[in-house]
Amino acid sequence: MTGDPRHRAGVILEIDLAGIVANWRALAARVEPAGCAAVVKADAYGLGAPQVSTVLAAAGCRLFFVATLDEGVALRSALSASCEIAVLNGPLPGSAEEFVLHQLVPVLNEPGQIANWAEIARRHGGLPAMLHVDTGMARLGLTTREFEKLADGLSQQTAIRWRALISHLACADQPAHPLNDLQRARFASVRRHFAGLPASLAASSGIFLGQRYHLDFVRPGAALYGINPLPGTPNPMRQLVRLKGRILQIREVDRGESVGYGAAHIMEHPGRLATVAVGYADGWLRSLSNRGSGCLGGKRLPLLGRVSMDLVVFDVSAADPSLACPNGFIELLDDDYGVDAAAADAGTIGYEILTALSRRCHRVYRGLPNQC
Ligand SMILES: Cc1ncc(COP(=O)(O)O)c(C=O)c1O
Repeated sequence: MTGDPRHRAGVILEIDLAGIVANWRALAARVEPAGCAAVVKADAYGLGAPQVSTVLAAAGCRLFFVATLDEGVALRSALSASCEIAVLNGPLPGSAEEFVLHQLVPVLNEPGQIANWAEIARRHGGLPAMLHVDTGMARLGLTTREFEKLADGLSQQTAIRWRALISHLACADQPAHPLNDLQRARFASVRRHFAGLPASLAASSGIFLGQRYHLDFVRPGAALYGINPLPGTPNPMRQLVRLKGRILQIREVDRGESVGYGAAHIMEHPGRLATVAVGYADGWLRSLSNRGSGCLGGKRLPLLGRVSMDLVVFDVSAADPSLACPNGFIELLDDDYGVDAAAADAGTIGYEILTALSRRCHRVYRGLPNQC
């Protein structure tokens, strides 16, 4: 393919890398003297793990979390060896040597993973790992019973060089939830077995529960990307994502005409419609059907009918016709209607809005180091 992809892209996703750095710095300052890692799994929540991690490393971040081995391998080629990459899901059977090869630190979540990694570590004369203890999520990490059984052996065995002890909060976005305190107390008793080992409990929302949750380092993901860590209250994080969809066609419609699959919207008035090149295959969720909106020239425009795979229809009757024309763009995400607002309309969370944005969205990076 030749030519500038921006000229033929149906959907353009603009990512302000300087905004991500600003958010990381704000969180790092909030938790000092605790450290601040960065969670860049799922391709940095859809925004591009190599680009995001490179600017965060330049800003001083030294610890990055991904979910899978493949994500870790891909990220290793973007980061120097001075940056540690931890893999939250730990090694699957048969994959341990790849962790060694790519200098990845596994998070060990269950007794089998620990035994296998200890064996590999003995062969290599010692290897790093993090230990994940479940304190109330029943998801990943050693259960309380498993931990009690293994605790003494774990802290004494020498082949695994423990880098950190982690746990994850289930309800940190609900500050008054009693599980927060309970998990903190359970984690405190686990930490007593590992004197001096760095410990981490808080992700984005946990950071805002206060200093008692910061421990030695925090692991934000969502807040770095502008998702509100304090749902229901003003968002303290900078917005850094803009999404716009290209108008393919404009049509005049009469009262009573139906729009899109299933005739799911019937025009109550005559109007002007724009067909826009974004659909659920781009990650513009089908649950936004008849609920979402876009913006053009400062006018908020309702999404009419169903979101289809590649297309969606907006009522542009209220927009300036010189802007609402083929090849123009409708803003789908901007500073006023951000990821959390779209999530509310779609009946989901900002995390899903971002990670759903597919490869078909043409990504444009702003605020790169040489532009800052
Ligand atoms: C273990 C762990 N730590 C940190 C995070 C980052 O969480 P958040 O994106 O809410 O900051 C996640 C995200 O799912 C996680 O699973």
